Amino acid sequence: MKLVFAIPFPVISITASPTALAYIQIMDPSKNGNRAAWLQGPAGHCEVPPTDKVTPWRLILLGAPGVGKGTQADLLRARLGACHLSTGDVFRAAGSRPECDQSPAMREALQFMRRGELVPDSTVWELVRERRACLRCRGGFILDGFPRTLGQALSLEQLMKGEELSLTAVVSYELPAEEIVARLAGRRTCEKCKAVYHIVQRPPQMAGQCDHCGGKLFQREDDRPESIKVRLEAYEQSTKPLLEFYKKSGLLCQIAATGTPEQILARTVPEIEHHHLHQAAEQLWTAAENRR
Ligand code: AP5
Repeated sequence: MKLVFAIPFPVISITASPTALAYIQIMDPSKNGNRAAWLQGPAGHCEVPPTDKVTPWRLILLGAPGVGKGTQADLLRARLGACHLSTGDVFRAAGSRPECDQSPAMREALQFMRRGELVPDSTVWELVRERRACLRCRGGFILDGFPRTLGQALSLEQLMKGEELSLTAVVSYELPAEEIVARLAGRRTCEKCKAVYHIVQRPPQMAGQCDHCGGKLFQREDDRPESIKVRLEAYEQSTKPLLEFYKKSGLLCQIAATGTPEQILARTVPEIEHHHLHQAAEQLWTAAENRR
C-alpha cells in the first residue's frame, strides 16, 4: 500500500514536459494523481499517484462527442478516486507545446483532430501502449475517448489479458443529436486548468473567465459546426459498433445522458457498483480457490 499524505485542497500543480511548462491542473491529491504519466507519456511521473485499491475501478466511457463523457469522468474521478485518462487530452496537451517538440506522427494526428476526423488506430495505439503503466496503476482508471474503433478495442483487450487486468464496466452515455450539438456549440474550456463550462447550461461566474484559476476560456477548434458534423459521423460509423462488442461481454451499462450532470452521475453509480461488487466477489472466490 502506498501512503498518501493529506495536503489541503486545491493544490495547483504544473506537470511540465521537459521543454514546456504548459499544462496546469487543479487536483485533489487525496483522490487522484496529477495525470503527468498519462499526459506526458513515459517521460512523465505522477507526483501523487492515486491511492492503491484492493479492487481498482477500471471503466471505459463511450458516447458521442459532446454527450458529456469528460464531465462525467471528472465527477466519477472525484467519487471513485480512479484516474481520468482521456486520449483527446493527450493530443490537446501535445498541441499546446511548440511545434518543434512534436513528433511527425503527433503533428499528423493534430491535423486529423482539427478536421474532426479520428486519428489513425496505429498512432492512437502507440500512444496508449507507451502509457500502459497507467492501465496497470492500482488506483484504477476511467478511459474517456478510448477505445473508439473495434481495432482499438481488440488491442486493449489483448493488452489487458497479457497484464491480467480486467475491466469493471463500460458505460455508454446516450443523448439525441440536437442536444449533443447544443452542448458542443456552447462548450468553453479553460486554457490553464482545462475545466469545462457551457455558456448556457454551466456558465462561469464571470463571462470568459475560469472560476477555479481565473484562466481565459476558449472554444475548442473542433467545436466549430463543420468539425462537429464530421465527428458525429465518425462516431456513428466507427464507435457505435463497440456497443455490440461490449454488450456481448456483459460489461455494458447504457445510461441516458439527459438532465444535469449530477442526475446523470446518480444514474451511473448504482449501475457500475453492481459490476464492481461482482468483480470483488470473483476476486475473493479466486483467492479462496488458490489457497485450497
Ligand atoms: P475527445 O477529446 O475524446 O473528444 P470527444 O469524444 O469528441 O468528446 P468531447 O470531449 O468533445 O465531449 P465529451 O463527451 O467529453 O463532453 P463534455 O463533458 O466536454 O477527442 C477529440 C478528438 O481527438 C477526436 O475527434 C479525434 O480526432 C481525436 N481522438 C481522441 N481519441 C481518439 C481515439 N481513441 N481514436 C481516434 N481519434 C481520437 O461536455 C460537452 C459540453 O456539454 C460542455 O460544455 C459541458 O459543460 C456540457 N455538459 C456536459 N454535461 C452536461 C449536462 N448534463 N447538461 C448540460 N450540459 C452539459
